[in-house]
Order: sequence, then C-alpha cells, then structure tokens
Amino acid sequence: MSVIRAEVTGVGAYLPKQVLTNADLAKKLDTSDDWIRERTGIRERRIAADGEYTSDLAIAAAQDALRNSGLNASAIDLIVLATATPDETFPATATTVQARLGITRGAAFDIQAVCSGFIYALATADNFIKAGQAKNVLVIGAETFSRILDWNDRTTAVLFGDGAGALILSAAQGQGTAADRGVLSTHIFSDGRQHDLLYVDGGPSKTKTTGFLRMEGREVFRHAVTNLSDAIETAMRSNGVTATDIDWFVPHQANQRILDATARKVGVHPARVISTVAIHANTSAASVPLALDCAVKDGRIKRDQLLVLEAMGGGFTWGSALVRW
Ligand code: UT7
Repeated sequence: MSVIRAEVTGVGAYLPKQVLTNADLAKKLDTSDDWIRERTGIRERRIAADGEYTSDLAIAAAQDALRNSGLNASAIDLIVLATATPDETFPATATTVQARLGITRGAAFDIQAVCSGFIYALATADNFIKAGQAKNVLVIGAETFSRILDWNDRTTAVLFGDGAGALILSAAQGQGTAADRGVLSTHIFSDGRQHDLLYVDGGPSKTKTTGFLRMEGREVFRHAVTNLSDAIETAMRSNGVTATDIDWFVPHQANQRILDATARKVGVHPARVISTVAIHANTSAASVPLALDCAVKDGRIKRDQLLVLEAMGGGFTWGSALVRW
C-alpha cells in the first residue's frame, strides 16, 4: 500500500563556543568533577554568550541542516521549534527563525514539552506531512537552559547545557512497511500529576518572572527508566521489530546511567547507544537532534539504518519514535 512518509533529508547542529567544565563548576559550587562524572557521565557543557539567544542557536542549526540537505530555505513550508526557553514569552521563537531564514510563506510555531519537545515536534511534523499539509518541514530543538538554572543549586546547575539541533523532513512515497525510509511511527505521552517533580518556579501568569528549574532528581530518574523503556517497546511493537533490528538507539541525553539502564531494559547492546551526554550535558529539547547530528557526521548512522529515538521531561512528558534513516 502506497503511503506518504516523512523522510529525513537534512541534519544540523549548533553549540555555543563557551565550554563550562565540571572543574569550573567546582570552583563556584560544593561539587566535584568526580561526583558529576560518576553520577551523570557529564564532563562539560556549552553555555550561550551574553546576547546569544535560543533563536540564534536555532538559526545556526537550521542553516546547517539546510546546507546538509541541499534544500533552499524557500522550500520550507513549516517550522516546528521545540523549546522551553524561548527568546520571549511571545511571539513564538519559531517565527523569529522563519524571518531570519528569509521564509515568507507557510507557518512557524513553538512546541513546549520540555526535554521531550523534540519527539513532540517530530510527531507534529510527521503528522502534517502524512496529512498532506506540508512537504518540507524544519524541525528544531533549541535551548538556553543556562538562563533558567539556579546557579547556586548544585543538584540542578551541574546537569544542563545550551545547544540546538535540527532535522529537515520531506514528504516521500513509502510502501507502508518497516522497510520504508523516514519516520515509521511516533508515540507521545504525558502525565500532568507529576508536575512537582520537575518544573520551573516562575512564569508570566503565576509570577510575572521567568523562574528557575526545580527537580527531584532521584524520583525523575526512577520514572524515566520505566517510561522510556515502555515507550521504546511500544515503538518496536507497533512496527513489528525487535531490539536486535535496531541499528542505533538515540536517547535523550540526561544522564549516562539512565541511558545505560534503559538500553539494558529494552535489550539494546551498549555499542548501539549514541551518547553525547559527556560533552553536551542535558540540552533538553536539543539533545536528541544534537546526538543525531554527531553520529551522522562521524559516520556511525548511515542511510537505511533503523533508529529508535526517545525523550522524557517535565510534565511529565515522554515519547519515542522509530525512524529509518
Ligand atoms: O531531562 C529531564 C529529566 N531529568 C533527568 O533525567 C534527571 C534524572 N535524575 C538524575 O539524573 C539523578 O537523580 C541526579 C544526577 C540528579 C542525582 O543523582 P543521584 O544518584 O540520584 O543522587 P541523589 O540525588 O540521590 O544525591 C546523592 C547525594 C546527596 O547527598 P546525601 O543526601 O546523600 O548526603 C546530594 O545532596 O549527592 C548530593 N549531591 C551532590 N553532591 C555533589 C547532589 N548534587 C550534587 C552535586 N555535587 N552536584
């Protein structure tokens, strides 16, 4: 049966220049390189410069993805930008990206699902393409979490970083089987009862301020492994594939221990896990496309290979996607 598929036709990324190491953090906080490495796998993270905004990161990643795809920006008819750290409360940062890329048609909007934002954005883009409402979609995850961290709180300040990643999805014909290239399925979930475990204690309506990230790390960890492995198993089952069919597991990069535990639970071999948490830390909605960009450009991810993507974040929100590259 002939179906419309959203094929990946470009990937791109951008990281701010400034590197903040664990040793740098240990000078300001009661923490150590050893503690951060052992508990999280993180060695360093990037921090946006003063005056460098989420839109700047997003545009650089988008330009890289456009170059990689060979498409002109004018071919893009939808921009879906996942971020929890927009430039302003409104308008959507996606519209700033649209203007600065010189795109004057179609639509651009933001998606807010925190660390799961990229999976939510991918699901949205895939559905627009499958419905025939868009042909070339720019999907971006971009964050400046450094702006919403309480730099005096060692339990959260050491975990996050800034960055952006982007994919271009283009409509193509498929056969409706797992052998098709492109997004094979997406699966998104939320459970609003878990608000208090991971949230920002400010916002335009509640406090008229931006607020700071607050997290019960141990509890989030526990939920993450269960929710993520369930989402991955749902994705594999929906497409009639098993863990041995997966070429690459590209998870949200929150903590190496979560990556390891989730891969073990679903039966993916450690050598098949793409991990960038050591050098990026947790970049929220940017982490999955940043990891994809890394593994495509270093030659690990190749055309026709089967990938499972996943993420989990505040809300809680979580999700997975099965993609044939
Ligand atoms: O992307 C959104 C999803 N977010 C996540 O997935 C994060 C999930 N959670 C985690 O990754 C981990 O729970 C953390 C990395 C946040 C914490 O690791 P943990 O092994 O769960 O440690 P813990 O919270 O149980 O803390 C152990 C100890 C505590 O001291 P006591 O109470 O045992 O004396 C903390 O106060 O480590 C202490 N601690 C630190 N020590 C040095 C907490 N943060 C630090 C720190 N440096 N930065």
